[in-house]
Amino acid sequence: MQKVAVIGAGQMGSGIAQVVAQHGIDVVLSDVELSVAEQARAGIDASLGRLVGKGKLEIADAEAALARIAPVADYAPMVEADLIIEAATEREEIKQAIFEKAGKVLSQGAVMASNTSSIPITRMANYSPDPERFIGLHFFNPVPVMKLIEVIPGLATSDETTQRTVAFAEALGKEVVLSQDEPGFVVNRILLPMINEAVFVLGQGTAGIEDIDKGARLGLNHPMGPLELADFVGLDTCLDIIRVLYKTTRDTKYRPAPLLVKYVEAGWLGRKTGKGFYDYSGEVPVATR
Ligand code: CAA
Repeated sequence: MQKVAVIGAGQMGSGIAQVVAQHGIDVVLSDVELSVAEQARAGIDASLGRLVGKGKLEIADAEAALARIAPVADYAPMVEADLIIEAATEREEIKQAIFEKAGKVLSQGAVMASNTSSIPITRMANYSPDPERFIGLHFFNPVPVMKLIEVIPGLATSDETTQRTVAFAEALGKEVVLSQDEPGFVVNRILLPMINEAVFVLGQGTAGIEDIDKGARLGLNHPMGPLELADFVGLDTCLDIIRVLYKTTRDTKYRPAPLLVKYVEAGWLGRKTGKGFYDYSGEVPVATR
């Protein structure tokens, strides 16, 4: 791969762009507004700077990585990309519009991938010009730190596309888990019921926020407890994923915890809004219940 396009310059898109650029590949980083893509590039600059500060990256390598990232607000520059990765908001209609526009510039032989965490790959492949060259490529947050990528071939994805995508993920220094195209794939299918159950435990008054998280940190050796992690992922995203699991399987074990719905309805979406299960406005996060 010589050039990759990343569509969506939010937290995931920025992380993906950083890792790709650090591995010597040119990146076109796009968002609806150029200023958003430019801001994301500035954020990547700061993130690379922290690595330099810790002595984990040479200044010259950080500069070279940054120079490989071109912020854009249109699709035309993606014509040269070998791989287009969509990392936009987890709404199917938004992704559909992106695939239709990007499909017009997708070059012969290039692969189109989605970083979706819950929408079926097989269905979204139909929004692209060639479902054989469409695949799921699911990164984890924070992308520069997390070692895993899930690769999810849809029903029509060719073996060649899968092999090329796995090779790309491994070239980024990540480990790959191949998943069938089933709701939640592998990791979120396990993670989201855990987070949802933690919210039930909270709602039933079995324990408070801090003790639930402490239980998972100290009793399971998880780096973050489930409620801190929910805040980190975004409570709206968590609710979207658990709802997809519930709707597609109709298995009541996936019913969303009423308290999770309440937090989302309050607009308490976690770190990104400054408040979720914890309030992030002070020096240290404080539990909201
Ligand atoms: N970008 C780059 N590096 C980062 C980073 C970021 N956003 N956040 C943290 N790091 C780095 C730090 O620089 C630090 O590096 P060094 O060890 O080299 O100094 C290292 O990660 C550890 O960070 P901290 O010391 O600041 O804090 P920590 O030890 O508490 O770790 C954490 C932070 C890595 C986020 C850790 O708490 C963790 O692994 N949490 C779980 C994250 C997780 O489960 N992510 C998956 C979410 S699910 C998902 O993404 C999929 C989905 O579809 C919902």
